[in-house]
Amino acid sequence: MLHRPESHVRSLPAQERRHHEQVLNQLGLRHWAEFDREAVAAAHQQHLELQGTDAHYLVEGADIHCPPGVYHATPGSSTSFLLRHLHGLAVGKPPSILEIGVGSGAILISLARRLGAGRYVGVDISRTALAAAAENAARNGVEITLHHSDLFTSLAGERFDAIFFNAPLYDRVPRNDLERHMLCDPGGRVLHRFVAGVADHLKPGGAAYVTVSNIGLIAPLDAPPLHIGLKGAELFDTGVIRALISIRSEPET
Ligand SMILES: C[S@@+](CC[C@H](N)C(=O)[O-])C[C@H]1O[C@@H](n2cnc3c(N)ncnc32)[C@H](O)[C@@H]1O
Repeated sequence: MLHRPESHVRSLPAQERRHHEQVLNQLGLRHWAEFDREAVAAAHQQHLELQGTDAHYLVEGADIHCPPGVYHATPGSSTSFLLRHLHGLAVGKPPSILEIGVGSGAILISLARRLGAGRYVGVDISRTALAAAAENAARNGVEITLHHSDLFTSLAGERFDAIFFNAPLYDRVPRNDLERHMLCDPGGRVLHRFVAGVADHLKPGGAAYVTVSNIGLIAPLDAPPLHIGLKGAELFDTGVIRALISIRSEPET
């Protein structure tokens, strides 16, 4: 059966809709407004069920354990997507990296294995995720520092060359804890708070990298004087696009 894609932004208040569209225009992604809602809801349900299982994944050679309730770093996940699109990444020498929402640690551990000795800090709002990240770092012989934190709250005064956030992407009211922390960001509120706080934690010349999607609200990216850029994007047959966006205080040279 064919589904007629609906415009995701049709029901938004006028000002929010304008912002959403401004950001899409800025990124050259005007067609992002369209996706197949029913197909997306079905794919989301499957994705949600996976997050309740216990599994190991090989991520860039690292053995990553994802217990129930910790985001699963499958080859098709946004974790693997982010790691695939980090060409030309400037991280400082030695690297100084923060990951917000570290989850299983798959991204931070892969970066530490790629880049060698440096400062690698991961935070998460979920203590289950922090325990998994600690276990995975130890098993893979990688040193990372972990803190419990709601975004930047436990990082006052700390600055980094690169900040990563594989963020919850779906603009939908969560029905349970798995959706609340890992998958859903109703009204783009988490993205909004991330964008509002990120410049205070970047060193001069540093950049943040955040995943976003057309099934989420990306209006918060329209936040001058910050500069945003498109680093990578993938299109699914449901019409869903996910993208990796860089955020800087200065224009990219
Ligand atoms: C999509 S998962 C990504 C996990 C991991 N970075 C990865 O890529 O496999 C999003 C992560 O962000 C965390 N998170 C959500 N809201 C947060 C917040 N306000 N502060 C800190 N972490 C948060 C979740 O607990 C979850 O571990």
